[in-house]
Amino acid sequence: MKFFLDTANLEEIRQAASWGILDGVTTNPTLLARENPLDVQEHLYRICEIVQGPVSAEVVATDYEGMLEEARALASLHPHIVVKVPMIRDGVRAIRTLAQEGISTNCTLVFSPAQALVAAKAGASYVSPFVGRLDDVGTSGLELVRQILTIYSHYGFETRVLVASVRHPMHVVEAALMGADVCTMPFKVLEQLIQHPLTDVGLERFLADWQKRQVSSAP
Ligand code: G3P
Repeated sequence: MKFFLDTANLEEIRQAASWGILDGVTTNPTLLARENPLDVQEHLYRICEIVQGPVSAEVVATDYEGMLEEARALASLHPHIVVKVPMIRDGVRAIRTLAQEGISTNCTLVFSPAQALVAAKAGASYVSPFVGRLDDVGTSGLELVRQILTIYSHYGFETRVLVASVRHPMHVVEAALMGADVCTMPFKVLEQLIQHPLTDVGLERFLADWQKRQVSSAP
């Protein structure tokens, strides 16, 4: 499974990249607004230079022509850019056109298996089911991931399943058990994947025992 960070924060991206386990980054308008960079394009370029992998950048237009214009501009920024396009009618049309132009896309705001099927048929490079937001409204986000993987396996679609809106480590573990291609997660969740209280206690004990050892005196 590939690990993406769901952030536009350069320091978080630098740290995760330094651990050698970061495969990509996803941003969205909310995450970029949170960083409030003076120059959005420059900020995205800097992210792309840190990450040796795909970086999702989202269009904010909601009409076909506007989305295409933004998508082409984003794609020309850096070869790592994957253009995020919302799952709406004009978005589906834009994904199809961009696929024909060789521009990678990530179909975002996906909440049903039907939408995921449409995204794959349109030729999206990635589909982003939002698991946490579904859980928030009392529906299983992970069940959606399972359904999408089943549907895609029947037809051999090349669209990769990118599990988004991840809130905790079990979202990542369950998605991995199902064989999802990618999980994009906040920095905190990536840290939580590494941590375990028994590891901390165990290490503390090993180090304490090592300090207490009988150092043999010289002959
Ligand atoms: O980037 C899209 C998605 O991951 C957003 O997550 O936590 O705002 O539901 P969240």
